[in-house]
Amino acid sequence: MKRNVLITGGAGFIGSHVVRRFVERYPDYTIYNLDALTYAGNLRNLEDIESARNYQFIKADIRDGEAMLNIMQENKIDSVIHLAAESHVDRSISNPMAFVETNVIGTVNLLNAAKTVWREQMEGKRFYHVSTDEVYGSLDDGGFFLETTPYDPQSPYSASKASSDHFVRAYRNTYGLPVVISNCSNNYGPNQFPEKLIPLVINNILNNKALPVYGKGENIRDWLFVVDHARAIDDVFHKGADGETYNIGGFNEWKNIDIVHLVCAIMDKKLGRPEGTSQKLITYVTDRAGHDLRYAIDANKIMKELGWEPSLQFEEGIDQTIDWYLANKEWMDEVTSGAYQEYYREHYQ
Ligand code: NAD
Ligand code: TYD
Repeated sequence: MKRNVLITGGAGFIGSHVVRRFVERYPDYTIYNLDALTYAGNLRNLEDIESARNYQFIKADIRDGEAMLNIMQENKIDSVIHLAAESHVDRSISNPMAFVETNVIGTVNLLNAAKTVWREQMEGKRFYHVSTDEVYGSLDDGGFFLETTPYDPQSPYSASKASSDHFVRAYRNTYGLPVVISNCSNNYGPNQFPEKLIPLVINNILNNKALPVYGKGENIRDWLFVVDHARAIDDVFHKGADGETYNIGGFNEWKNIDIVHLVCAIMDKKLGRPEGTSQKLITYVTDRAGHDLRYAIDANKIMKELGWEPSLQFEEGIDQTIDWYLANKEWMDEVTSGAYQEYYREHYQ
């Protein structure tokens, strides 16, 4: 079956894995990767598929509603997989408005464009909104986030994603737009920008820099390998029911400090450094404001209804991830030059 699929944010971390998967697995689809190439977007993430016959890159900003309408019209887009977003909690604390503009207004621009272009025929169309488990708020020691868990976002980032989720559902209820949403836990893997915990720790170990652990390092996240998320997105896109929500997660909870220790131990081995070398770089720093204690996803719905399950154990995924960063030092050097240095100084010093 032919489809014209618009993937937003395809030059970013998760988006690039989704674009690659769709370009390679669905030769009958034309994949349009729409990305503004902010600090987090990098076309190097897609060098291996950029000349594929069924792939096209469009540099555009989802904050521009007119551009979204024109792009959807001109390319006869029948499916949207929407990942473009401002995605880092710490940046949302220092600049919340950027998150409102991209995550809320940008999403509504895309919804409006889809509603207009698909108005005569909604059948066979799909607007897939990729969201986060952070919309559900913070858990104590017990329990999991279910699809029915009430929204309780705690950071400007999660509030903006929650708002965009609400708009997506409202467009289905009000205008009959065929939508589907997934909410995923923390991702890790190749191509993640080193503002996020795992690549930041890898990069700092490589450069013998302090490893900043917020608070006591006891906050818990539920980690999923990015390729497993891309597989889940494929399943939800093709098999998910209209109007449904699917939680995606690896049943893989880790305290931050335990992850940092694990990465230190693996890196020391791979770099041939004496055991304990990297651990000495661990530095406890001021906690993030309003730091959510624990996220944990109950992924039973997607597992039972769509047959998805995570494929990699965490230790294996972390090992592969570290190998990727070691083999791609140029990638890391490029993304950490310039503006990253300024961000790092402002945020950590
Ligand atoms: P990322 O920051 O690595 O990439 C975001 C991409 O969006 C970049 O390529 C950037 O250039 C693009 N972008 C940003 N603003 C834009 C704009 N105004 N117009 C067009 N493009 C724009 O993010 P990520 O970690 O890959 O996350 C992708 C999506 O998945 C986001 O919606 C995020 O909320 C969601 N998500 C992320 C995680 C995670 O652990 N990283 C977990 C669950 C859900
Ligand atoms: P992060 O990768 O920013 O993802 P999120 O905030 O979306 O969960 O952070 C993961 C965890 O690591 C989170 O509890 C905050 C913590 N953290 C640190 O301790 N130090 C750091 O330098 C960063 C970036 C995060």
